[in-house]
Amino acid sequence: MKPVYFDNAATTPIRSEVIDAMTKVMQSHFGNPSSSHSFGRGSKALVEKSRKAIASHFNVSAGEIIFTSGGTEADNLVLRSAVKDLGVRQIITSKIEHHAVLHTVQHLQKEFKIEVSHVNLDEKGGIDFNHLESLLQTNEKCLVSLMHVNNEIGNILDLKRTADLCKANNALFHSDAVQSIGHYKMDLKDIPVDFLAASAHKFHGPKGVGFAFIRKNTGLKSLIIGGEQERGLRAGTESVHNIVGLDEALKMAYQNIEEEKQYVEDLKHYFIERIKAEIPQVIFNGCSSDFEKSTYTLVNVCLPVLPEKSAMLLFQLDLKGIACSKGSACQSGSSQNSHVLSEILSDKDLLKPSIRFSFGIYNTKEEVDYVINVLSDFVAKSKTSS
Ligand SMILES: Cc1ncc(COP(=O)(O)O)c(C=O)c1O
Repeated sequence: MKPVYFDNAATTPIRSEVIDAMTKVMQSHFGNPSSSHSFGRGSKALVEKSRKAIASHFNVSAGEIIFTSGGTEADNLVLRSAVKDLGVRQIITSKIEHHAVLHTVQHLQKEFKIEVSHVNLDEKGGIDFNHLESLLQTNEKCLVSLMHVNNEIGNILDLKRTADLCKANNALFHSDAVQSIGHYKMDLKDIPVDFLAASAHKFHGPKGVGFAFIRKNTGLKSLIIGGEQERGLRAGTESVHNIVGLDEALKMAYQNIEEEKQYVEDLKHYFIERIKAEIPQVIFNGCSSDFEKSTYTLVNVCLPVLPEKSAMLLFQLDLKGIACSKGSACQSGSSQNSHVLSEILSDKDLLKPSIRFSFGIYNTKEEVDYVINVLSDFVAKSKTSS
């Protein structure tokens, strides 16, 4: 059996078309986009063509797309400048955000003494909209930061409902959409979100590039100080080949979205049916087994395994050539429990191993069969009583 890669929420393999587009740029366009000679102008034209194409997928103008080094930087840019430059004094967020938001907000709280409120979650990690609405009744200038698709449990936030609610209450709204852009289409004329963060390597593009959507006239300022690149919003020479790769990856993702979504969703469906049949005591964390409320790309399962055997599971899976993860990729080396699962699981279930399996277009049903066989063997040897 070839190694099985079920960790597509951590990162995805680059499509060959994307590699081709990037290689061409690296071979033929080395000019600095800020140079005024023909070499520079050629590179600049590529960057601007990509910006325009990316903006068109979201029905926004090209000037509202700012290239960054990825999702983390886009989150930092928005959150930090909202506090520093826009006078935001309160951030409403959740305890299950990615560290790119969670830790940035913690830093801002210490540094600028802003107020931070956490919206209540239900037992599956869903946002309590009544509580959000009550938190929005504040006199402080406020920003809401809630992710679109949770990277560990896959829960989907109703972006339009949240954006409408924020708008009605004069709050700014930022959403970390790193796990949804390239997987879901969105029309930002219809969804009044102010800011979004995206990352190319989550949809078969290169690592080290992403973008922030920054709605016109919000007044955000640069995080990185230097030259005037990216309309003064992000200093540093643009990574032309990465930007073209991002554009190509997004184009291909949206071009094939219906068939690819169906293919990946069928795999998830098959995985859920097979694991329920082989390991009936399995628990699906968050909304991850609900196809309406969670992304089609991942499932997070809590397995009936004795705590003392639990640490062995990822190791055993790795030995069998199976790549998956305990939580987000940035936590997988850590012995601490996932901050997301800690919010929603009982103490008893937290002692059992929870694993995220995330699927992509290059996976197959045979791989699902193999993984389920390995998992059920392991569980049979390490079972808890409940
Ligand atoms: C929800 C979410 N936000 C932010 C990031 C960080 O993105 P990047 O790796 O591009 O910095 C990730 C990646 O793991 C993510 O899943």
